[in-house]
Amino acid sequence: MQFREIMCGIVGYTGERRACPVIIKGLQRLEYRGYDSAGVAVCQENGALNVYKCKGKVSDLERHLEGKDSSGTIGIGHTRWATHGEPNDVNAHPHLSRSGNLALIHNGIIENFRVLRDALRSHGFTFRSSTDSEVLVNLIEFVRESENCSLEDAVRIALKQVVGAYAIALIEKGNTTRIVAARKSSPMAIGIGDGEYFLSSDAASIIDYTQSFVYLKDGEVAVIEKGKPLHITNLEGREAPVSIQKLNLSISQLEKGGFDHFMLKEIHEQPDTLGDCIRGRVIPETREIVLSGVLENKERFLKARRIIFVACGTSWHAALIGEHLIENMCRIPVEVEYASEFRYRDPIIYPDDVIIAVSQSGETADTLAAVEIARSAGAFVYGICNVVGSSIARGTDSGTYIHVGPEIGVASTKAFTGQVTVMTMLALLVGRLKGTVDSGYYHRVAQAVLELPSTIRKALETAGQVAALARTFTYAHNFIYLGRGYNYPTALEGALKLKEISYIHAEGLPAAEMKHGPIALIDAEMPTVAIATLDATYEKTLSNIEEIKARGGKIIAVVSDGDELVRRSADYCIEVPSTVECLMPLVSIIPLQLLAYYIATYKGRNVDQPRNLAKSVTVE
Ligand code: M6R
Repeated sequence: MQFREIMCGIVGYTGERRACPVIIKGLQRLEYRGYDSAGVAVCQENGALNVYKCKGKVSDLERHLEGKDSSGTIGIGHTRWATHGEPNDVNAHPHLSRSGNLALIHNGIIENFRVLRDALRSHGFTFRSSTDSEVLVNLIEFVRESENCSLEDAVRIALKQVVGAYAIALIEKGNTTRIVAARKSSPMAIGIGDGEYFLSSDAASIIDYTQSFVYLKDGEVAVIEKGKPLHITNLEGREAPVSIQKLNLSISQLEKGGFDHFMLKEIHEQPDTLGDCIRGRVIPETREIVLSGVLENKERFLKARRIIFVACGTSWHAALIGEHLIENMCRIPVEVEYASEFRYRDPIIYPDDVIIAVSQSGETADTLAAVEIARSAGAFVYGICNVVGSSIARGTDSGTYIHVGPEIGVASTKAFTGQVTVMTMLALLVGRLKGTVDSGYYHRVAQAVLELPSTIRKALETAGQVAALARTFTYAHNFIYLGRGYNYPTALEGALKLKEISYIHAEGLPAAEMKHGPIALIDAEMPTVAIATLDATYEKTLSNIEEIKARGGKIIAVVSDGDELVRRSADYCIEVPSTVECLMPLVSIIPLQLLAYYIATYKGRNVDQPRNLAKSVTVE
């Protein structure tokens, strides 16, 4: 059986400090991604290469390290998340080569590992684990021995034989200064210190030490040696430029800030994160929109035959709202595609299409693959990402960061509202440039965007009521979420939040679809969350609510402040502030995020790291 390592974490260090504490701290910062085992390899001052690894948490690894010799100043560490097969000590990384001279950590999948393993077996290699990563470290060792070459040359030659995705780091016995790293389709950042280097699959995990980073590009191999300049080459051995980027992240941005969970913190910080997202992009005095990525590529948007969104999960829900926004304001036909489907169905892409890739992490493998397909078809590809310097951000022609800060909770919250806010600004700007948006409407929406932080702050005042309501529904086994128009995607997103963190089955539907089948599910045991704020479909949603009520269903309704009508039919009403209709999803989602959060915590779930999920899905 193939053991695939995805969404794993990598940390490395070479310098004057003890490597192990640096690595452990970095791995702890990556814990939120979800993982099932952890390990480190350290090269001691006497040249001995020691590997310590175990199933479980980084805290288990720390216990495992007690009393062991891990005092070296160079090391690599890993958190592994397996999708197939049991996680255990043997499958944990680092993996040692046959001779014990090389230790390797790997994120990604070597798709042709069986062929490579069979070839190595024919040369007498045996394998302790079931992983593709152990095959890779032995392939590198085999090349090194048979070609009698340097480690970096062996890495290059071996990687040319590899089909798949990887971010790897290696250290070797007897070398107390040098790490060799490489990547393809899996992120890798090198932190630059004073005579020392850090390595991580996520730069944010090492900001305790440095804010200067070099992001390895696909097909690059880095030789990272204490006290020496960073040396980067491509797989052909040609020198690549070393471009250092600054990351302005503070430790407090990464910590819980007094909340019980990152998710709750991230829900409550939305007034601020949306303020950051809007700042400098909507000019308060004139309500002019300044999105440089759009303005610099104005012609591509003005001449777009079609806009296609590609995304997954919550980002896909945000894109569904983007479809309404763009069709409404820009009169450009829009399609919204699951990136995972788009990439495999030979899509028709025209050179005058604009593809918008939406991704919080900027590392989602399916979305990245969709970007590559669109680019090779000659379309203009625009990214809406959160993580600065991420693969999708770098792989697109242009784009806009949502600037909502690191999202740590696996359940996406502030990224969703940031994505929809960016899409609103983009639709307004393109609509203005095209002349398809009426000036009065433009100014009303732009003003409402400026007021979003205070509107969302008011919506967060529902937290106490939602927490109390959540107690009543903690024991439900199923939920239906209904919405229409702009709020149909909100219903999908509310249902996804509940499923992923509470493990309660929930289904989001357009309200009018109920009578085409799902209403058969309604009884006293099936609560319905209905978004029935004052908008174009308000009265129709009200009728849908009454139909459910008539069949004995329980209704929790999200309504506009002061609503009288829905209150007569619904069992519970959560009042939210009003704004322009196209921004209502940003308001209505707040009580739904809170409802999912409180139900999940009352059920004792691991809210920030729900089972079977990881924050960033870096392979398909
Ligand atoms: O990083 P991305 O936005 O590309 O991630 C896409 C999905 O994996 C993500 O939105 C996922 O659905 C979240 N866990 C939802 O809360």
